[in-house]
Amino acid sequence: MIVVCYGTRPQIIKASRVLAALREAGPVVAVDTGQHYDFHLHGQIYEQLGVGPPDRFLGVGSGTHAEQTAAILTRAAAAFQEIRPRAVVVIGDTNSTLGAALAAAQLQLPVVHVEAGLRAADRFMAEDINRRLVDAVSAALCAPSERAARQLASEGLRGTIHLTGDVARDVLLAHAELLAQPVAAPEWPLPAEQPFVLATLHRAELVDGPELPAVLRGLGGLDLPVVLPAHPRLALALKQLPPMATLAPNVRVIPPLGYLDALRAVSRAAAVVTDSGGLQREAYWLGTPCVTVRAETEWPETVEAGANRLVAPGAAVDLLPNAVASPSAGWDREAYGDGWAAARIRDIALETMAR
Ligand code: UD1
Repeated sequence: MIVVCYGTRPQIIKASRVLAALREAGPVVAVDTGQHYDFHLHGQIYEQLGVGPPDRFLGVGSGTHAEQTAAILTRAAAAFQEIRPRAVVVIGDTNSTLGAALAAAQLQLPVVHVEAGLRAADRFMAEDINRRLVDAVSAALCAPSERAARQLASEGLRGTIHLTGDVARDVLLAHAELLAQPVAAPEWPLPAEQPFVLATLHRAELVDGPELPAVLRGLGGLDLPVVLPAHPRLALALKQLPPMATLAPNVRVIPPLGYLDALRAVSRAAAVVTDSGGLQREAYWLGTPCVTVRAETEWPETVEAGANRLVAPGAAVDLLPNAVASPSAGWDREAYGDGWAAARIRDIALETMAR
């Protein structure tokens, strides 16, 4: 028996393929921590990807990093003690990833880490702390890129390193046919043929920090309409902004899009402006130029390919219009595997379980 444990929107998306691949081979228990719970971040993603309800829902909800991680650790440990899996698969770098990996490691269950080996220079970033700790306790490290595999090798970790490619690519390829349709969400604010820039901002460092108004002003200075599907963290921050920092009329805030509509919007956008790692790769795969409003990225291959430009949030007012307007040439889209990551992860999980 293998457990797959996840809890946030991007993890549900990636878990959809990992669960499907593992279910071909034998019994699997899906454990959802409940870190994300709103319909837009949770139920809608389950529905669209046909994931089916989780076997266990831990219902941890929101809180400080300490509260959330502690609740996930405690509840995941209790669930794993009952289920008695022979391996636990975790994905990414969220508090759900850390809590579940630590619970498994403390119970001496082998951990398979999907999306291992990514690193940021900012060592105080919650996600970077999470991924370093999860990699340290994992038995199998599934790297999405050659660079991530090299990074893991350079750290001399105990787990075995496997170059699997990025499971997000598997998910995208599995839905490629549905992406030709227009965005279906009734909240979409523009006529179907109207060119636009798609923007998403959700990282705590940006959304809860002092540079958010500069990024919003940068978006307001773009020549095209900007559609901004707002994660709950951003929606809250927008309500609390001082009156001087209100949004320009070209910026249209809508609720978070479902998985398919988000990809349809990426593929139709003139450009994407984001701080999301997922969107950086999706824009890269779908051929849409991306501007990442961060000082660094965990996905530098997208920058090297010419698909992605970095603009520091504080410089967004000056640099964003130019970065969005500069044409990008076509690029090769092969840095993150071939769309068969989930099958490799299944084989690695089965092998880890049998050890
Ligand atoms: C989390 C991850 C981040 C990931 C992101 C994906 C951590 C440390 N961060 O960030 O790495 O990129 O998920 O989306 O694990 N909220 C709701 N409804 C929800 C969920 C959250 O309203 O369903 C609100 C709450 O006010 C909550 C805040 O959003 O306090 C932040 O949620 P949280 O899960 O703590 O982190 P994210 O910002 O979503």
